[in-house]
Amino acid sequence: MSVKVLFVCLGNICRSPTADGIFQKLVSDAGLTKRIQVDSAGTANWHQGRAPDARTVAAAAKRGFDLSVLRARAVKRSDFDEFDYILAMDEQNLADLRSLKPADYTGHLGLFLAFGSQQQYREVPDPYHGGSEGFELVLDLVEDAAAGLLTAIQENKL
Ligand code: 4NP
Repeated sequence: MSVKVLFVCLGNICRSPTADGIFQKLVSDAGLTKRIQVDSAGTANWHQGRAPDARTVAAAAKRGFDLSVLRARAVKRSDFDEFDYILAMDEQNLADLRSLKPADYTGHLGLFLAFGSQQQYREVPDPYHGGSEGFELVLDLVEDAAAGLLTAIQENKL
């Protein structure tokens, strides 16, 4: 059985590509690439076809994650036919996804950080208009929640 996971933020150039690349590496390191498929998308289509933000790529590379091959796309209604987990970076992303969601969706739609171990943040703060510390915070929060997500999927579904 295979499980498909979609990470969603606003632009699909900062937070959700970070989650996509980090979670893909965890999956790959666990030898589960055939069992868990990973993608990311944005609720907006502003950056369609573009690589992630250069600041995001550089910060992730310093921690050993290669995000440079990812390309932005907008989330679409048919994603709900395909993905078992659709994980939003913030409450606005989640509200936008809920308004797109077909009534018969049976997968898990929720906040990504619900899988994390820290209590301080419920949402991954948008780093786009801020300084480098924002990009480091994204990495910290995403690394933590990605580990929790892998454990949850292994316990529930694999
Ligand atoms: P993301 O960050 O949702 O984490 O990809 C943003 C990227 C671009 C913009 C806003 C947030 N923007 O306004 O273009």
